[in-house]
Amino acid sequence: MLREEIARLKQEISAIKLETSVAAEQFRQQYLSKKGIIPSLFDAFREVAAEQRKEIGKSLNELKQDAEALFKEAGNLVSGKKEDQKETDYSAPGWTFQQGSRHPLSLVSNQIHEIFSRVGFSVAEGPEIEDDWHNFSALNFPEEHPARDMQDTFFIEKSPDITLRTHTSSVQVRMMENNKPPLRMIMPGRVYRNEAISARAHCFFHQVEGLYVDENVSFADLKQTLLYFSREMFGADTRIRLRPSYFPFTEPSAEMDISCTVCKGDGCNICKYTGWVEILGCGMVHPNVLKNCGIDSEKYTGFAFGMGIERIAILKYQVKDLRLFSQNDMRFLSQFKAWY
Ligand code: DAH
Repeated sequence: MLREEIARLKQEISAIKLETSVAAEQFRQQYLSKKGIIPSLFDAFREVAAEQRKEIGKSLNELKQDAEALFKEAGNLVSGKKEDQKETDYSAPGWTFQQGSRHPLSLVSNQIHEIFSRVGFSVAEGPEIEDDWHNFSALNFPEEHPARDMQDTFFIEKSPDITLRTHTSSVQVRMMENNKPPLRMIMPGRVYRNEAISARAHCFFHQVEGLYVDENVSFADLKQTLLYFSREMFGADTRIRLRPSYFPFTEPSAEMDISCTVCKGDGCNICKYTGWVEILGCGMVHPNVLKNCGIDSEKYTGFAFGMGIERIAILKYQVKDLRLFSQNDMRFLSQFKAWY
């Protein structure tokens, strides 16, 4: 077998003419390089029976010498041809390589982490697949609350209910169940809602939850923390306003607006000519929620807030269509230059 193969290759090589440097390099790769044909024959040679080694070894060496000679000769030939030879041009520009950039949602969420870490908040995460207790019941949602409805929630299993979490408030519950106050943390992550995808709504998006539980935490602490955040995020001249609202897990509850980042309060189409844009929901943690998580609601109080990261990014970068965040269109993404 090996003997015939060597003879065949000898013939093959004797018929080859190498006329360009490209052809010579191809030849070298095919026959002589480490993974080429000739070295593989040397591997096969190790299996040859003792009485045949002398003869086959000799013709294998000859084959190798033929191939090397052909390659060498081609080298001379090619270097003899001036037009094939390129001189190094030291004035040519260097290799360029593309610098990547972070996704706008990562930029915004990194900035949120950074702002809150400066006032003592740590970062924690929880699972995206949740049970009814962590997503709803422990958060004081009544049994018949519309948010539990099939329209909003993606159910993975029914009774007992396993869902994709509809908000990051579920992580609050896990943190309070597993840690003792004082607790001061933010909890970022992806959330899911059963909504038709459009420029203004998506079936998944991102939120950051905030939680501070300790003795004597007051609504004034909440307000001051949110004012600090808003000014750091949107600029020192940003104003906030809190409007009374309702969430089952906070009492009292509020929604927070900031003065419009585009028109600074004068009125434009971003703020629908009101001068204000809503960015988050917040409130004092409901005593029932503290109790559900094993925290003494007589001794401790807390505040919580939750905001959509897309919403912050839309205001910061004036993005008009929510779908852009998940379409991976390079024309969109390459406009954001990473600084974190
Ligand atoms: N979970 C709410 C939502 O998804 C947002 C929210 C409101 C979170 C008030 C909170 C809060 O922690 O206190 O719409």
